[in-house]
Amino acid sequence: MLILIPKVLTAEQVAECRAALDKADWVDGRSTAGYLSQRVKDNEQVPDTHPIGRELGEMILKVLEKHALFTSAALPLKVVPPLFNRYSGNQNYGRHIDGAIRPVTGTPHRVRTDLSATLFLTEPEDYDGGELVIEDTFGRRRIKLPAGDMVLYPGTSVHHVEPVTRGTRLASFFWIQSMVREDSQRTMLYELDNSIQHLGRDVPQHPAVVQLAGLYHNLLRRWADA
Ligand code: NI
Repeated sequence: MLILIPKVLTAEQVAECRAALDKADWVDGRSTAGYLSQRVKDNEQVPDTHPIGRELGEMILKVLEKHALFTSAALPLKVVPPLFNRYSGNQNYGRHIDGAIRPVTGTPHRVRTDLSATLFLTEPEDYDGGELVIEDTFGRRRIKLPAGDMVLYPGTSVHHVEPVTRGTRLASFFWIQSMVREDSQRTMLYELDNSIQHLGRDVPQHPAVVQLAGLYHNLLRRWADA
């Protein structure tokens, strides 16, 4: 399942990120790529130990903790602290698949990358190119979103970032280990949750609402690791 989550950050929060990232030290993105990705990766990143990146990452995680759509779609167990990248002057990231396991720097923890997230921090009219192209069973999707919007997609997808031919593309990216490992199961739970919410709004007194909510939780109990 690929879903777009609009307005994760407000315009003020986006501006705050952009101003802070202006002052950060940027390094070659190849420093964190695996040996296959290194050959196709051409961008810049804020090192994951950088205080500015850490602070902004925490702000993003705090927003996501309270975000109903994100929670329903991702059923997050662990999230890698968000990282930041930028592309300009024809920089791009060729076709690759993200590593399955990410260590969390400075901790003994690892995160299985069930889901990938990209949170756009530059308005689409401020740069040309830079589409995130995601290939999966649902076909090929070209994603370029307003600043503050986020795309969530299965970590199993091959993807790439098109060359940025004008301006600079800033984004945050991170991975989520879900309580439910399988994308197909997560998708069913998400659709069931949406239907229950819909019914709960339209016919709140109907006894089937309680039954369906019970079914949701019983499936979650069966499929989730917490
Ligand atoms: Ni990637």
